[in-house]
Amino acid sequence: MPNPSLHSVPGDQAPMHLLLEADPSAEAIAGYLHDCHCVVARLGRTTVGVYLLKALTADTWELMNIAVASEHQGQGIGRLLLDHAITQSRLLGARRLELGTGSFGHQLTFYQRAGFRVVAVEPDYFLTHYPEPLFEHGLQHRDRLRLALTL
Ligand SMILES: CC(C)(COP(=O)(O)OP(=O)(O)OC[C@H]1O[C@@H](n2cnc3c(N)ncnc32)[C@H](O)[C@@H]1OP(=O)(O)O)[C@@H](O)C(=O)NCCC(=O)NCCS
Repeated sequence: MPNPSLHSVPGDQAPMHLLLEADPSAEAIAGYLHDCHCVVARLGRTTVGVYLLKALTADTWELMNIAVASEHQGQGIGRLLLDHAITQSRLLGARRLELGTGSFGHQLTFYQRAGFRVVAVEPDYFLTHYPEPLFEHGLQHRDRLRLALTL
């Protein structure tokens, strides 16, 4: 497994091309990026991953975005970032970490393996919050799952 280094960076240095892999709306990203704690994973000088954490309340934070460059996926970098996000949110005072996803595929397994539980479904979320239809493996994203981890 590669051994990336993790760094906190200001939001304006966040790798937009990676954030767009997890959230295809640049407009949505612009709406939350400035409020987020941003961490990137680097291999040498190359940024290969990113996550964004945002405070919802004093003790509840949200993982707003997490992505690994496609050519580096499946090598454990995502798990490293997710574990770091969990530790970091605890250090920032969170008692609960939440996230939303439209994926019922490997991303859902990825979160559940780290202990996240499905706590709600928001029907039609992606139909009403995104101007363009979103597809993954030919399947349209419609409903958003809310997941949460008690810290
Ligand atoms: C989700 C994501 C961040 C995971 O990062 P990663 O570096 O590939 O994750 P890891 O290598 O740590 O793998 C975690 C698990 O997911 C599985 N996985 C990763 N990519 C996969 C893929 N394309 N297809 C199937 N399984 C995959 C791995 O096999 C691993 O499972 P294991 O624990 O049984 O070995 C990455 O796939 C990604 O950036 N996807 C695009 C953006 C995205 O969907 N973000 C989340 C939005 S909800």
